[in-house]
Amino acid sequence: MDKLIVTGGSTLKGSINISGSKNASLPILAATILAEDPCIIRRVPDVSDTNYMVQILNKLGVHVERSSGTVRTNPENIISEAPYDLVRKMRASICIMGPLLARTGKAKVSLPGGCVIGDRPIDLHIRGLEALGAIVEMEGGDITLTAPEGGLIGATINMRGKSGPTVLGTDNVMMAATLAKGTTIIESAACEPEVVDLANFLNSIGAKISGAGTRTITIEGVEKLGGVEHYVIPDRIEAGTYMIAGVMASEGITINRVSRKELTCVEEKLIEAGHIVKFNEAGDSVYVAPGENPVGFQITTEPYPGFPTDMQAQFSALAAITPGISVIKDTIFPQRFMHCAEMKRMGANIEVDSGQAVIHGGAALSGAPVMASDLRASAALVLAGLCAKGETHISRLYHIDRGYEHIDEKLLQLGANVQRVRE
Ligand code: EPU
Repeated sequence: MDKLIVTGGSTLKGSINISGSKNASLPILAATILAEDPCIIRRVPDVSDTNYMVQILNKLGVHVERSSGTVRTNPENIISEAPYDLVRKMRASICIMGPLLARTGKAKVSLPGGCVIGDRPIDLHIRGLEALGAIVEMEGGDITLTAPEGGLIGATINMRGKSGPTVLGTDNVMMAATLAKGTTIIESAACEPEVVDLANFLNSIGAKISGAGTRTITIEGVEKLGGVEHYVIPDRIEAGTYMIAGVMASEGITINRVSRKELTCVEEKLIEAGHIVKFNEAGDSVYVAPGENPVGFQITTEPYPGFPTDMQAQFSALAAITPGISVIKDTIFPQRFMHCAEMKRMGANIEVDSGQAVIHGGAALSGAPVMASDLRASAALVLAGLCAKGETHISRLYHIDRGYEHIDEKLLQLGANVQRVRE
């Protein structure tokens, strides 16, 4: 197992490029199951989650070749049963359910287990696929969905759960509906940019989807889907994470290959916290620098276009060193505060209660051995380590390798003092 040693105090400088979005790549790779012709997906980040997805596709009968950011798929003899040993490694593998069901008439997938950031049920995915006519059986930890004879049938489906619409649930139903008979309307659909990128990919292989990016998505079923070359959108969460690094540990850095319209929440919050954020005219490059009088801030996570839950841990790290009181509430995953306990070991003053962290900022952080608990929590620990005194040893680095492409190399490029070592 690898760990990252971050020695705080270096002043970051220069620029870096943001990778393609992990959370867009995963459903797009899954959607290649639907295609009857080869696809070329570019800017797929080299992270362990996309590697798991590539392995799952290979086992399902999609011939996949990967070289740097390019994944070439050629669906051959698709089988309906996903291998448990791979599926269990990544919760997002649940998004193969919709495409497998639509393409083969059957999908057998292991039910995802618990997750450190919360309960994460899949009831809405199941409800949506059942509405398209699937028969659902659960046995031995597996879920088997079977399409009716003659295939799935379009329906009107509401994807709203108690915490808002589900992202991968919307993806699953949208993918399944592309090959259903008739029209499907997804109400209360998730409108995250990653859902839009998936819809754009599906449309370019012949699907008929309109309204992606709004709360109502309409899908006219088609007979079959072809192939295409597709470029994945930039990773807004990776971009946001480096923007925070820029205000916490630099005198100014530039982050390239970003998309401004998807970073509005991060931009607004950093400005509200007293920092400098300047996009270029095209909105694809941003300069960030620390402001002279930073102040505490309030965050409540919400479905897009609200503040993303995937950015709250990184903002907690910023809050820890910002004078004043900051309050961060996660309405999507109220248990997602494991990073706070670890940051307290570094000297942060944080109280967590009922899905909310109250952070009395301005503490001088000091390096400590800490444990990564999930992807974004690990990113928060790296950020805290960059401005802590001394060495922070972040173990269980595999969490961060799930979603940040070559993070140690990118940080080294910016002048950080980081070292990946074997434990
Ligand atoms: N929910 C239900 N029932 C369901 C599905 C979800 O009640 O059937 C609830 C969840 O418990 C949660 C809320 O709905 O409270 C939203 O969950 P959602 O289904 O949208 O999450 P997801 O699709 O499984 C994606 C991202 C997550 C991100 C969430 C929320 C991918 C691969 N994952 O997960 O990303 O936090 O949306 O934006 O796209 C990450 O990248 O670190 C990450 C966890």
